[in-house]
Amino acid sequence: MKRVVVFTGAGVSADSGLATFRDSDGLWAQYRIEDVCTPEALQRNRALVVEFYNKRRKELFSVEPNAAHRAIAELERYFDVDVVTQNVDNLHERAGSKRVTHLHGELMKLRSERNPELIVDIDGWEQTLDARAEDGALLRPHIVFFGESVPMFDRATQIAAEADLMIVVGTSLAVYPAAMLVRYARSGVPVYVVDPGNPDTAMIRNPLTHIKARAAEGMPELLKKLVSELSE
Ligand code: OAD
Repeated sequence: MKRVVVFTGAGVSADSGLATFRDSDGLWAQYRIEDVCTPEALQRNRALVVEFYNKRRKELFSVEPNAAHRAIAELERYFDVDVVTQNVDNLHERAGSKRVTHLHGELMKLRSERNPELIVDIDGWEQTLDARAEDGALLRPHIVFFGESVPMFDRATQIAAEADLMIVVGTSLAVYPAAMLVRYARSGVPVYVVDPGNPDTAMIRNPLTHIKARAAEGMPELLKKLVSELSE
């Protein structure tokens, strides 16, 4: 079975109703990264950071996976698939994808401020300000803030390096190291980009096809094409 890596960003969840970050109506037009997505922000203004992620989590309970998440899950009927996502939502898992690597953390998890290995699930949407981990330290959102290392990146690069096909969906390719993942595909491996905008594909050296469409349209279309090629 051919190995496929699907690398996703906020755009894959846009058609479910979740805002992206850098589009004109995106989250970073409403919030400053320094206020809600850095370790310093957590120290300086814990309440705002916790509230920001509580809002994201609450939204997540009101949305569903879309046709793109479902098409990505369906790829598993034909290929050996790994999803590597920058997203902190759980829509890939809810659509049925089995192997999902979250580069930037997960909304439905919290972790100890003292011990990054002490990760716990959160049941509802609300993290209370005084919630503590078993080690007595305060809990924080299980999110990779700007300025923090990306522990899952090494694993993601191994996955990318073994792929026979790479599909990139709904990411501006503006945040590093995540965006570097496209450089780990072996030479000659085809790369498909599904995005209605103009992500920064300049660093992709592989044969590139840009499907300029929304994820919920472009991804099912790509699934159909890849499946029909299998029987050729
Ligand atoms: P961005 O907001 O930077 O990029 C969103 C991408 O989705 C753009 O290329 C859009 O053109 C595309 N897009 C918009 N609507 C779409 C749709 N309906 N279907 C498909 N694509 C669509 O989001 P990311 O690239 O995911 O990190 O951002 C990367 C990281 O920056 C995030 O993981 C987050 C953010 O700061 C952290 O919070 C650590």
